[in-house]
Amino acid sequence: MWDDRYATDEYRFGTTPNRFLVECAPLLPPGAKVLSLGEGEGRNAVYLAGLGFDVTAVDCSAVGLAKARRLARERGVSITTIVANLNEYPIQPGAWDAIINFFCHMPFAERAPLHQRVIAGLKPGGAYILEVFNPDQPQFGSGGPTDRDLLMSIDDTRRELPGLDLRVARELTRRRDDDDPATPLVSVLQVLAIRS
Ligand SMILES: C[S@@+](CC[C@H](N)C(=O)[O-])C[C@H]1O[C@@H](n2cnc3c(N)ncnc32)[C@H](O)[C@@H]1O
Repeated sequence: MWDDRYATDEYRFGTTPNRFLVECAPLLPPGAKVLSLGEGEGRNAVYLAGLGFDVTAVDCSAVGLAKARRLARERGVSITTIVANLNEYPIQPGAWDAIINFFCHMPFAERAPLHQRVIAGLKPGGAYILEVFNPDQPQFGSGGPTDRDLLMSIDDTRRELPGLDLRVARELTRRRDDDDPATPLVSVLQVLAIRS
């Protein structure tokens, strides 16, 4: 499905990094090893690589990751890409300074075990940075999944990320493109969680 969606020269989600990620990035140590889950066409991975981080991008879409590599080449940065289903991708334990997840929506039955592997994958002090649509999003009719099972709330976050220090866990409405007031409102969950 995602291969078909990405099969165009245009970047479906643009090439501008997510604003919450931009806010969180200064917290990462120099040269941080970052794993991006469901990276898609590379907007966030390429941004982080441009800051000098060592970024590995995982996605089930080979087409999306080919575009990510193209964007990296155009920006003169390097990223590692891995085509894999996150249900099977073995996150290396204790290896990552940060793991990021932007709008990679999975059902609870898949997301909960993935989150256990995310927790184990973080180094002590490592950060999990996430933004996804929350359960209010379907009311806005501005895209994203409508199935509650694919959406995440703060309560879901507390249940699925036990032991992590939730430095940020907030649900908010914002413009789909933060800087463009003409774009529709979306309702999201933003999380910055640190492994102690
Ligand atoms: C809405 S897009 C978001 C892309 C990117 N994170 C961004 O914000 O621009 C969701 C991405 O998650 C990927 N994805 C969804 N389920 C996946 C899975 N089980 N394994 C690997 N990738 C998955 C899709 O291929 C797609 O690229």
